[in-house]
Amino acid sequence: MTIVVTGATGHLGRLAVDHLLARGVPASGIVAAGRNPEKLAALAELGVGTAVIDFTDPASLDAAFDGAESVVLVSGSDVGQRAPQHANVIDAAKRAGVAHLVYTSAPKATDTALILAPEHKATEEAIAASGLPATILRNGWYHENYAQAAAQAAATGVYLASTGEGRVASAARSDYAEAIAAVLTSEGHLGSVYELSGDSAWNGDDFAAAATEAFGREVVFQSVSPEEHFAVLTGAGLDEGTAGFVVALDGNIRDGLLGETSGELTALIGHPTLPLVDYLRSTK
Ligand SMILES: NC(=O)c1ccc[n+]([C@@H]2O[C@H](COP(=O)([O-])OP(=O)(O)OC[C@H]3O[C@@H](n4cnc5c(N)ncnc54)[C@H](OP(=O)(O)O)[C@@H]3O)[C@@H](O)[C@H]2O)c1
Repeated sequence: MTIVVTGATGHLGRLAVDHLLARGVPASGIVAAGRNPEKLAALAELGVGTAVIDFTDPASLDAAFDGAESVVLVSGSDVGQRAPQHANVIDAAKRAGVAHLVYTSAPKATDTALILAPEHKATEEAIAASGLPATILRNGWYHENYAQAAAQAAATGVYLASTGEGRVASAARSDYAEAIAAVLTSEGHLGSVYELSGDSAWNGDDFAAAATEAFGREVVFQSVSPEEHFAVLTGAGLDEGTAGFVVALDGNIRDGLLGETSGELTALIGHPTLPLVDYLRSTK
């Protein structure tokens, strides 16, 4: 009986495989699944099984889930296509009779104005309708979403955003990945929905202070309006759709939709989450 991790060729899924191994799951009990055969070949060097899957190809999912006890559905990256893709995974998991489905969702997915939430809501509803025993991990923002902002702050001394006073309770991908391993290697998580986020929530000034400490140069927060932000992004060459998306996400942060600190991530992984300043230091 195996644990199949989808998205294992991506950042979060790969870290989940690492954390499963670190928590004592034998490599022979893990199947790393993803689209990219070259990345899967690198994963095979860990001794884990591998499977080429495409969320749009149910036969590939049936083959990968054959004999699986648990399936980790790491949400896909084709934004706009994910609800039907995830439904294919849920249907295949049901056909395979898996005993535990773990899904990485978004904060308050079923009841939030977060612009990314509708596909997660649809997926959570499909999981509930399937009757599969499941654990929902509603992941908050990654620290790693700020890699570019960190590089820019280090280079220019400015952190620019239209988040106003809004706060972000971000955490490192590795901490969210460890939560996946935690719910698969301990009892009592079937039927649970966890709101996962970092232990503390930072605003623009806090980001600038953390960047100042991490980079050893003064960084200031340049708080701009959504209109100014859009103009800066398109002026830097971003297409209007992407710029609008970034500005809308900052609006969600301004509205407090990514700022809650539930403590549930720390409780699951058994240690504090990585502070933002330590993440920023790691980007140097
Ligand atoms: N909470 C946050 O802040 C945040 C930020 C960004 C994204 N996310 C969500 O969290 C997920 C994991 O994050 P990440 O950083 O690990 O993303 P990532 O590195 O882009 O990985 C995405 C994974 O999804 C796989 N995938 C995409 N479409 C697929 C398909 N049609 N069939 C099979 N596999 C498919 C990719 O496979 P291949 O590489 O093999 O094609 C890859 O393994 C993302 O996909 C996204 O849904 C959350």
